[in-house]
Parts: sequence; structure tokens; C-alpha cells
Amino acid sequence: MIPVITIDGPVSSGKGTVARRVATRLGWHLLDSGALYRVLGLHAERRGVALDDEMCLVDLAEQLPVEFREGEGDTAVLLEGEDVGQIIREERVGELASQVAVLQPVRDALFARQRAFAQRPGLVADGRDMGTVVFRDAPLKVFLTASAEERARRRLGQLKEKGFGANLATLIEDIRTRDERDMQRAVAPLKPAPDAVEIDSTELTVEQVVDRILGEAAARS
Ligand code: C5P
Repeated sequence: MIPVITIDGPVSSGKGTVARRVATRLGWHLLDSGALYRVLGLHAERRGVALDDEMCLVDLAEQLPVEFREGEGDTAVLLEGEDVGQIIREERVGELASQVAVLQPVRDALFARQRAFAQRPGLVADGRDMGTVVFRDAPLKVFLTASAEERARRRLGQLKEKGFGANLATLIEDIRTRDERDMQRAVAPLKPAPDAVEIDSTELTVEQVVDRILGEAAARS
């Protein structure tokens, strides 16, 4: 069986950064499932498909012309051959992603594509439902959290780096609202798998979280 480590968690919990470092340290493949939903949202917008048109969205999802090219410390995301790595990180595209992500038939249409990322020597998959739905059989499932205040502080740091201003109190409020929506949604709600290892990264550095996960992985191999 191909080993898979799933890393799920709320917005700004650091799972993307952690997943990439774990994958690099192990020399494994990486699945950023959020990127898949973002690409689908962008593709739908460009094709003029309404975000509640389930049938059309399922068609688009089944034939999504996306390619992930793993490079040194980075993965290029190509949509119909165009590098959309930057565009899909925009807040607007995140919003499109979360709208298509609430449709169960769309999630089903992306299921096999996500499973296909499990290739030798192994896969690190990050998202919201990697451990609960897509890789339910993964030997190591991590649920990564941090307090809303800490996540807002991290987000503020990222925004400042990009030259954007923001208000900490507003960010905390936004994060609380998104947590509530992600956890309460009827379809694939954000929750830890029953056998997940929960890691609270509020007081930890990225390296400490990565080491903890690698330790858990070593204990299972
Ligand atoms: O993780 P990221 O912010 O890139 O995800 C974008 C959106 O895609 C999330 O807000 C969430 O609604 C959705 N998503 C999901 N299931 C996943 C990954 C992302 O529903 N496995």
C-alpha cells in the first residue's frame, strides 16, 4: 500500500506550509486539494458557468484541464497550459472555491482525481477532508489547529509581506466566521477524523510541527 499522510485543518493553520515541508523531507508527492477547488472555481468563472449549476460544474470538474508540476520547493499549477499559481491565491478565487466546494456532486467528481495523487514513494495531502473522506485509509492523519488569534496574527504577517494593510480584530472576526461556516456546513464539514493526531500549533514553530509529524510517521512505518 502507498503510504499517505493527511493534514487537515482550518484556514491559516499553517497546513500548506507544513505539508510542503513534510513532503520535501520525506521526498514524497504533495496534494494541495484546496488548489484543485480554486482552479475549478476559476475555470467555472472563465467559462461563464454559474456557481450553482451543478451539472455543468460536475462536467468541468470531471474534465478539468489542470496539471500540477512539482518543482524544487514549489508546485506549478497549469490550467489549460497557463500558469495560474498566483491568480488562484487571490481572495476572490478562494471565495469561488468555497462556493463550488459545498456541492456534493462536485466533490464526488474530484474524488478519483485526488486519489490518483497517491503514488510511490508516498503522498502528503492537505485540505479539509483528506483524512475523513478522500484518504480515509491513510495510516497517519493529522488535524492541525491554532487559536483564532494566532492564525489571524499569521495572516496579518502574510498580508503585510505582500504590502497589504489589515486590522487584527477584523481578521480574528473573519477567521471565526469561516471556522463556523466550515465546521457547520452539511457537506464534508471540517472535523478531525476519529483516528487523527491533533496538533495545536499556537505555541509551535513550523519546524516543531514538521518534526512532530515526522516522528508520528516514523512510529508507524
Ligand atoms: O485550503 P484553501 O484555502 O486553498 O481552500 C480553498 C477552499 O476550498 C476552502 O475555503 C474550502 O472551502 C475548499 N476546500 C474544501 N475541501 C478541501 C480543500 C479545500 O472544501 N479538501
